[in-house]
Amino acid sequence: MKHLLKLMDLSTKEIQKTLNLGDQLKYEKKNGIKHHILEGKTLGMIFAKSSTRTRVSFEVGMYDLGGYALFLSSHDLQIGRGEPIEDTARVLSRFLDGIMIRTFDQSDVEKLAEYGSIPVINGLTDYCHPCQVLADLMTVRECKGTLSGKKLCFVGDGNNMANSLIVGGIKTGMKVSVACPSGYLPDADIMKWANENGEFECTEDIYQAAKDADVMYTDVWASMGQEGEAEIRKKAFDGYQINSSVMKAAKSDAMVLHCLPAHRGEEITADVFEAHAKEIFEEAENRLHAQKAVLVQCLGGK
Ligand code: CP
Ligand code: NVA
Repeated sequence: MKHLLKLMDLSTKEIQKTLNLGDQLKYEKKNGIKHHILEGKTLGMIFAKSSTRTRVSFEVGMYDLGGYALFLSSHDLQIGRGEPIEDTARVLSRFLDGIMIRTFDQSDVEKLAEYGSIPVINGLTDYCHPCQVLADLMTVRECKGTLSGKKLCFVGDGNNMANSLIVGGIKTGMKVSVACPSGYLPDADIMKWANENGEFECTEDIYQAAKDADVMYTDVWASMGQEGEAEIRKKAFDGYQINSSVMKAAKSDAMVLHCLPAHRGEEITADVFEAHAKEIFEEAENRLHAQKAVLVQCLGGK
């Protein structure tokens, strides 16, 4: 794996290899086995948006692997004053061994990889969130034993999470259904690809989408950068909530995942969230293990 810009760039084999490596690194960390595979390597972490999980898991991940991570707020970098991404890429490539970036436009992540000469990892854009979905797939596999043939249902905004879940789910042989209100659908090209490459359904009917699901998934109604639309979105997404009534349509042993942060009472009720807290926080922990697997592959450790 040279970069991780979006899951569409990875083959099914590459995704499976990453999940296997994530499992191995998780097991080894739990058993006190240390691997300083990235000793002497540095990762720059550019953040144009807030983060709890991504920032801490990447920083701890680099520490675990014997490397070093630098937190770089885009407000403090010259990017924030208009220095082109093309120049930033070429400068940072002279100092660092890899870059993780969380920003708005997917094109900025792609440009960073094109103009730089070091691996680039996407830590979330408006378009996708590949690191999160690798951790999600790892969690489903841990819980259900397999991915192929399992049904994943995403409820809510057709946002970065929906886009990456569709790609990651279909690539690993899952059936994917999405319940979104019209006007808030996932990326049209991704849905077309999903229809051509697997079992995919997009509907406004949340009960139809949830029917016999093995995994129920949701995310906030207003993503980072959309705070000004929060009130309009609350109205648009009314009813697109994972609650005990929707859970009855899913399989009786369905798991519930949420990338977090969560807004109880909006996209998920507090009772469903707490009933599935074990899975949701395992999912959060798996960010660390899955990303270490990505770091090892991208930053050239053996
Ligand atoms: N899920 C996720 O990416 O969390 P953060 O925004 O806290 O990084
Ligand atoms: N869709 C959310 C995901 C947060 C991890 C956002 O972009 O804010």
